[in-house]
This record gives sequence, structure tokens and C-alpha cells, in this order.
Amino acid sequence: MTTSTTTPRTIAVLGATGNQGSGVVRALLQKSPHHPASFTVRAVTRDPSSPQAERLRAIYPEEEVSGRLQLVPGDVYDVTSLERAFDGVWGVFAVTNNRLPGQMIETEEDLEHELVAGRNIVAAAKVSGVRHFVISSLPNLADASKGQFQKVFHFDHKFQIEQLAKSELTAVTALRPGLFYTNVQWVQYCRRNENGIVRFCPPVPGNKTADWTDPSYDIGIYAAEVFSLGPEKTASKVYPVVSSKMRFADLPAIFSTVRYQSAIFDPISLDDWGATVARTVGKGYEEDIRQMMEWIAVAPDEKICYGTMTPQEDCSGADLGVRASTFEEWLRRSGWQGP
Ligand SMILES: NC(=O)c1ccc[n+]([C@@H]2O[C@H](COP(=O)([O-])OP(=O)(O)OC[C@H]3O[C@@H](n4cnc5c(N)ncnc54)[C@H](OP(=O)(O)O)[C@@H]3O)[C@@H](O)[C@H]2O)c1
Repeated sequence: MTTSTTTPRTIAVLGATGNQGSGVVRALLQKSPHHPASFTVRAVTRDPSSPQAERLRAIYPEEEVSGRLQLVPGDVYDVTSLERAFDGVWGVFAVTNNRLPGQMIETEEDLEHELVAGRNIVAAAKVSGVRHFVISSLPNLADASKGQFQKVFHFDHKFQIEQLAKSELTAVTALRPGLFYTNVQWVQYCRRNENGIVRFCPPVPGNKTADWTDPSYDIGIYAAEVFSLGPEKTASKVYPVVSSKMRFADLPAIFSTVRYQSAIFDPISLDDWGATVARTVGKGYEEDIRQMMEWIAVAPDEKICYGTMTPQEDCSGADLGVRASTFEEWLRRSGWQGP
């Protein structure tokens, strides 16, 4: 008689202390250790003793003791540190950041740091012989807009990194998140007016639709299902991680229903939007974020994922058996009470 044992597959998770990565850590660890597709997680952080890393560790004390969760150092601008972090892993969850923690984006060239990080991540995954590379990516808006919007670098750079990964690595699956519900916590999306009424204010017509994502929960469950099914079923696929499309004017209506607070849709101008982002992120990001919103305001409503895919092209439900959260689900899960 033969007994079969399954060794858990180790997944290195980049951005493990952030929105998306922390959701991936949670969803991977939630796969029971006795399940045939169980995982151990190598959570990559610049500093395993930072307060953020300690917070992550505190959520999973048993998993750390049992070895199902390890926190390891790794910096996306230091390829050698990534090779060490990826050594012996079966899979990598990759996420890149258009922002630089603690630094402003002064010029458009500054945004190229994301490409540097992406190249390092792909190079380290190649050297380490990673079997399944799952990347949080975004569509190419220069192409989608037929060349009208060529400066949405934080989308197009992610798309370029996804293409590089596909050309260099054996099995790549892309997740493309919608707008993050967490954005409504930012002042350019939502503020209170002088009467204390919650004002949702992105610079788009209220009847315009967009698709959204809970960046932590949704990316987590999609990535965990993709790793569970493995490259045989999911390599080369692109999964949009998006809710059913919602009108911008529905944000206040849903918020009011869940939170019993008055809320309105009252958009700010594109200039105000760009200037607010420039103040907080940096001047080099202003045109990028303006063009993103300009595209969202004209993107075809019948297409999903920032107007880039037909609904029929979305195989997430059929392949993975998952769907992204509604705004109401995110509100209840996060407990957000308004600005
Ligand atoms: N907002 C939206 O609507 C939206 C929609 C789609 C996509 N996105 C994209 O989502 C991305 C941000 O993802 P997120 O919200 O999950 O990120 P996040 O919560 O801001 O977390 C950033 C993570 O990156 C890690 N990190 C920072 N610098 C690093 C470095 N040099 N080396 C290694 N790790 C580093 C941090 O870890 P440590 O500090 O522990 O090192 C942290 O875990 C952006 O690129 C954005 O374009 C946003």
C-alpha cells in the first residue's frame, strides 16, 4: 500500500504588509494545512521588525510557530535580496508600487522606479526557478484609449511588467484589480461639506460606471484560488478582479443605506482633483492621475476592467469560483464610517 503525502507549496508574497499582499497572506494561510493545495507563506518586507511587520506577525502567532508563515527581508530595488527571498519557493505573488514610501514623485521620470522594481522581481523569479508567478497588474490605457491618454504610467508600467514576466517566466497569471474601495478614504474622493454631509467628489459624471475591488480581501481570495489551481489551469490567463459595474452616483446612496448618514455626489473639477493628488503624492504624478480619470469618464460602459475587456472575457467565476466584493460588502467588512 502506498501513502501519498503532499508537501505544502511555499509562496513568496511581496507587499505582505500592505493592502493586497496582506490579503494574499491571509487567504493562503486560510487554506487548511491538511488541504491538498495548502501553502506556507514567505512574507517579504523591507524590514521584518518594522511595526507593520509586527502587526502582520501578531495576526498569525500559531502559523509563525508552526513555520507556515515566515517574514523575510527583501527590497524590490535590490535584486540580490529578492533572490534570497525567493530561494526555493514554488510561487511568487508580485505587486509593484507607483509610489515611493516617504518620498514625493517630483517628475514623470520618477515614476520609472516601478519598472526598475518590476524588472528586479522578474529577474529574481527567473533565477530562483519560480514555477508560478501571479502578478497584480493593470491594463494598458494608452492602447485602450487608442493613443489619446499616453501618460497613465502607473497602469502602463504594470502592463509592461506583466508582459516582461510572460516573456521571461514559465507560468504567469495576471490579476487586474478595479478601483480600490479604500480610495474613498482619500480626500480627493470623499470629504464632508460645511454642513457635515458626506460628499463623494471624484471628477466624473455621476451616471458614469466603473468597476471596483476590495484590495485586500478580493485580491487575496483570487490569488489563493489561482495558486491552488496552479499553472496547469491558470497560466497566461488574465483575471479582472472587479465587482459588477457601479455608477459613481451610487456611492453616496449605498453609503447612506449602510451607515444611516446623509451623503451626496458632488464632483470636484479635474484641476482640483489633479492639484490635490499633486500636493499629497507629487507633481510628477499629476498628469498621470488626471489622464486616468479622463479615461474613466469616457471609457466604454459596456466593457469591464477600465473599459478594456468584454464581460464574456472574464473567466474568474468559471475558473476560480470567486467574485469581487460590492461596495456594501466592503463598507460592512471595513467598518468605514465616512471621512
Ligand atoms: N488605488 C487604486 O484604486 C488602485 C487600483 C489598482 C491598482 N492599484 C495599485 O496598487 C499598488 C499599491 O498596492 P497596495 O495598496 O497593496 O500597496 P500598499 O498597501 O501601499 O503597500 C505597499 C507595500 O509595498 C511594500 N514595499 C514598499 N517599498 C518596498 C520596497 N522597496 N521593497 C519591497 N517592498 C516594498 C511595503 O512593505 P514594507 O513597508 O513592509 O517593506 C508594503 O507592504 C499601486 O501600484 C497602485 O497603482 C491601486
